[in-house]
Amino acid sequence: MSTEEEKLIETAMNQLAFSYAPYSDFKVGAAIETMDGEIYGGCNIENAAFGPGNCAERTAIFKAVSEGKRHFKRIAIVGGKAGCVRDYCPPCGVCRQVMREFCSPNFQIILAKNSKDYKVMTLNELFPESFGPDQLA
Ligand code: THU
Repeated sequence: MSTEEEKLIETAMNQLAFSYAPYSDFKVGAAIETMDGEIYGGCNIENAAFGPGNCAERTAIFKAVSEGKRHFKRIAIVGGKAGCVRDYCPPCGVCRQVMREFCSPNFQIILAKNSKDYKVMTLNELFPESFGPDQLA
């Protein structure tokens, strides 16, 4: 019996196969779950000009937002050199800022090595004292 968290991690792991990372060879997979239970996967997508590359987390979030989803429960993230996941892959600062736009402080970020070995952190733990939509209200 796999838990909901394990299923989300497995979806993130499956995304590693789609990662386009010819420059860093660091493959990342993510899967985000909406409040209404839908799951969107994402992978990192690099670019020869480097700057236009996109992280797995933002690919997943932007896929969801572009389909009308703006309320999220949690995200699972996996990553590693050559797609071999040996350690946790915490989200970069830009991805934390994008999460801050759509997610509440208690949004769960699942950092996984595999579907049995993972830890759950909140957005507030990873991104405290942040700038968000409320500042512009
Ligand atoms: N990367 C992600 O996809 N997510 C992160 O949170 C960290 C970094 C990607 C970007 C780049 O394609 C590769 O990992 C190496 O930085």
